Amino acid sequence: MRILSGVQPSGKLHIGNYFGAMKPMLDLQQQGEAFYFIADYHSLTSVSDPATLREYVRDVAIDFLACGLDPNKAVFFRQSDVPEVNELAWILSTICPMGLLERCHSYKDKTARGFSPNHALFAYPVLMAADILLYDSDVVPVGKDQKQHLEVTRDLAIKINERFGDGTLKLPEPRIQEATAVVPGLDGQKMSKSYDNALPIFGAQKKLRKLVMKIPTDSTPVEDPKPTEGSIILQLYKLFATEGEYTEMIAAFENGGCGYGDLKQRLFDAYWNYFEKARDRRAVLEENPQQIDEILNAGAEKARQTARVVLDRVRHAVGLV
Ligand code: ADP
Ligand code: TRP
Repeated sequence: MRILSGVQPSGKLHIGNYFGAMKPMLDLQQQGEAFYFIADYHSLTSVSDPATLREYVRDVAIDFLACGLDPNKAVFFRQSDVPEVNELAWILSTICPMGLLERCHSYKDKTARGFSPNHALFAYPVLMAADILLYDSDVVPVGKDQKQHLEVTRDLAIKINERFGDGTLKLPEPRIQEATAVVPGLDGQKMSKSYDNALPIFGAQKKLRKLVMKIPTDSTPVEDPKPTEGSIILQLYKLFATEGEYTEMIAAFENGGCGYGDLKQRLFDAYWNYFEKARDRRAVLEENPQQIDEILNAGAEKARQTARVVLDRVRHAVGLV
């Protein structure tokens, strides 16, 4: 089974990214041949400063390795190190109806949020389809927000196979994480890099603690029971706690006598401790930038070998060779 997924280097990774995308990817690397990549071409639609893009790519690479990506198990690479993906994207474009892209939410959402409506933003799902189809992927773990892009990918593969012969492209299956559907941000909205409401996976202790303390709460007096329904503190705590710890936390809310400051401190401790090992590994990796490059280069070489086989098959099927 080949598992493939990508993450855009468009900012500091947060715990929404971790529970929604990274953790499922890391868990799956045990179950098959994983291909995981840093979607830097995709990020060009949102990051315009070259130095910033380089920094984000490096950070995402370090974050993934620190969080447990094992380069001996998973092929880990940068999207742009396999430029063949653009050729497949072009071929897919030639059979992609405009209506299919016009229906995609992400283009509408992003332009509504102020992104300039350019061609790359519109064609984004075609490049994503190429990412997936170029590696004969079986399973693609993604968050709910990417579900529609997987449907586009399957549609395009079906169209290619209908026109150029069965077996030209392999049909992938999405693996959507329903359980951790949406991690709330500090303000209760969906946690996102662009809403200024995120808890990053990594950062200085003082800064992260301050963020947790910023979570808005009501004015229930210390001694009174606190409402559990819709509590952001509880929803976030649940991600880090064992079942027993979570039950205790509920009791602390319901029994009263524990102020919001204390409850937030418990949340902070759980969050900080959860990433302790990853933080230690990250510190070591930061001292060895050369090792990161070696891992990504070796990954690119392996990815490229697979990509060449698939692209040759497609080039032949469509009549380019
Ligand atoms: P952001 O909204 O912060 O820009 P991205 O759109 O880059 O995040 O998301 C990358 C992946 O991380 C998504 O496909 C999704 O699976 C996951 N993800 C992002 N935010 C959340 C969240 N709040 N809850 C659960 N998963 C999330
Ligand atoms: N669009 C995905 C996101 O924003 C990132 C991505 C690009 C991706 N290519 C992919 C994910 C291929 C899975 C498979 O999160």
